[in-house]
Amino acid sequence: MIVLEQLKNKIIGSSLNFQEACEIAVRDLRSNFKDYHWVGIYKVEGGNLRLTAWDGSEPTEHVLIPIGRGICGLAASKGSTIIVHDVNHDPRYLQCFLSTQSEIVVPILSKGKVIGEIDIDSNKSSAFNDQDKNFLEDLALILAEVWERNTE
Ligand code: SME
Repeated sequence: MIVLEQLKNKIIGSSLNFQEACEIAVRDLRSNFKDYHWVGIYKVEGGNLRLTAWDGSEPTEHVLIPIGRGICGLAASKGSTIIVHDVNHDPRYLQCFLSTQSEIVVPILSKGKVIGEIDIDSNKSSAFNDQDKNFLEDLALILAEVWERNTE
């Protein structure tokens, strides 16, 4: 996929740190995918997820989410991707924006441990499918590489 290749080149092919890589990723994702209305990356901090980079038309009040809470917290505790096709019918969903209809949360794993996650909200219901999941999981691997490069 061209967007992933371009992002990969930008992120891996330079000496960006994790924070800079996250900022580029959220911006590029939002600008390249019309149904990605709000894109954020959270970092694990103790027992919480802290918002570290985001792009969208408005900020979220959920800048610190306890692991285990909401779809974000659930994906972090399970260590696997969660797609919610209709947030209005999912009691686990933690509301940020009235306009959001569907959501995908993709954990970023380093050495089997969740170190962060990509969270995307869409104003369209069922906006995310397996193609989005695969592509975003590839991106999560790239971000994990940058994370490891910075922490080793
Ligand atoms: N909806 C998320 C909370 C984060 S906001 O979407 C930015 C959740 O259910 O965990």
